[in-house]
Formats: sequence, structure tokens, C-alpha cells
Amino acid sequence: MISRVSNYNIVIDDYVNNIKQVSIRDNIPIIEDDVLDFLLFYLSHLKADNILEIGTGYGFSASIFRKMFPSAKITTVERKEENYKMAKELLDGMDINTVYSDAAEYIKSRKEGIDLLFLDGAKSHYKELFLLAKRLFKSGSIIISDNIYARGITFGEIVVKRNMTIKRNMNSFIDEIFSDEYYSYLIPIGDGLAITRIKWR
Ligand SMILES: C[S@@+](CC[C@H](N)C(=O)[O-])C[C@H]1O[C@@H](n2cnc3c(N)ncnc32)[C@H](O)[C@@H]1O
Repeated sequence: MISRVSNYNIVIDDYVNNIKQVSIRDNIPIIEDDVLDFLLFYLSHLKADNILEIGTGYGFSASIFRKMFPSAKITTVERKEENYKMAKELLDGMDINTVYSDAAEYIKSRKEGIDLLFLDGAKSHYKELFLLAKRLFKSGSIIISDNIYARGITFGEIVVKRNMTIKRNMNSFIDEIFSDEYYSYLIPIGDGLAITRIKWR
């Protein structure tokens, strides 16, 4: 847990930057710079002891969470074997629990609560994963969902057939997080970022 991060360079050090460069080299999509800037600002005001990330990639965003929340328990889940193996190597020594699994299977078996959930895996599954994780949320838990626009598919009027599932599922996810149960904001940065907070009960 941290109280404040005031300097971008504290978080993006050589170690984190190396993971970023290797991700770019291998065409692993990573959080965009404006999303990262926003998260550095927003998360610096938060406490989170238990963090779950869906979609490790090579571990760039997980390494940022580690820098921002030095004493939090961080778990990141990746279903693609090559990405998992590379992340495991790149995150060595960072005290991040790197799990090789499909996210749905992992969440079903998880018992620990979640203070912060970062959704950055397959766009069609956000709602399913969010609902599966719901039993692990606490009052005040935060869910950050990246790529809400799905590169124009979510709110696009003309969408090719193969993208209809993404469009339907992402809109259904948006309906869920904007229901009375939660406070949600859709922030027009990167590919669309949603921030959801579980209402205090
Ligand atoms: C955008 S990349 C993650 C980037 C990473 N969060 C970062 O910013 O450095 C998405 C990753 O999610 C993984 N993924 C997609 N669906 C998944 C699922 N259902 N379970 C676990 N991993 C998944 C993909 O294999 C891919 O590596």
C-alpha cells in the first residue's frame, strides 16, 4: 500500500522500462501512455492490499502495480503459455504471483478478496469475469477495465459480423457496471478506460 506517488520516474525505472521495451519488440499490447499517466495519478490516492490482474502479457502493468503498491499481494493471470513464461522470467524477483491459467478458472478457485481488479484480457469476457469475481469484492473495491472501446467496435454503428460478439458482450458489461449497484466512470483515454467502485454497504 502506498499513500502517494509524486514522480513518474519512481515507477517507470529501468526495470519496468525493460519489460515495456521487450513487450513492444514482441508486439504484446500494453497499457497506453495516457492510461498509464492517469493510473499513476488515480492509484496514488488509493490503498490496495490485494490486487488481481487479468491478462499479464509480459508483465508490464503488473510491474507498475508492484512499484505503486510495494506491500500489496499481486496476482496476475495469463492463459497463453509463451507470454506466461516470458512474464515469469521478466518479473523474477518482483514478488508477483504469476499464474498460468484461463482467468475464469482461476477466479472460480480463488478464495481471497480483491481490493483492485485490473481487467485487460479478452474483451468478450469482461462481464463474465466481473460477475465471477463479484463474490470476492468488498465495499470500496475498485475495478479498472481497459479497452472498453474495443478499437471502435463497442459503439460503432457498422460492425462486421465477426466482431458482433465483442460489441454485444462489451455493451452488456457496460450496462452491468453502470447499474445502481456500482459507481462507474468511462474515461475517454487510450482505448477507453472504465473505473468502477463497489458501493459501500
Ligand atoms: C493486452 S495483453 C495484457 C497486457 C498487460 N496487462 C500490460 O499492460 O502489460 C492481454 C493478455 O491477456 C491474455 N488473456 C486474454 N484472455 C485471457 C483469459 N481469459 N485468461 C487469461 N489471460 C487472458 C492474452 O493472452 C494477453 O497476453
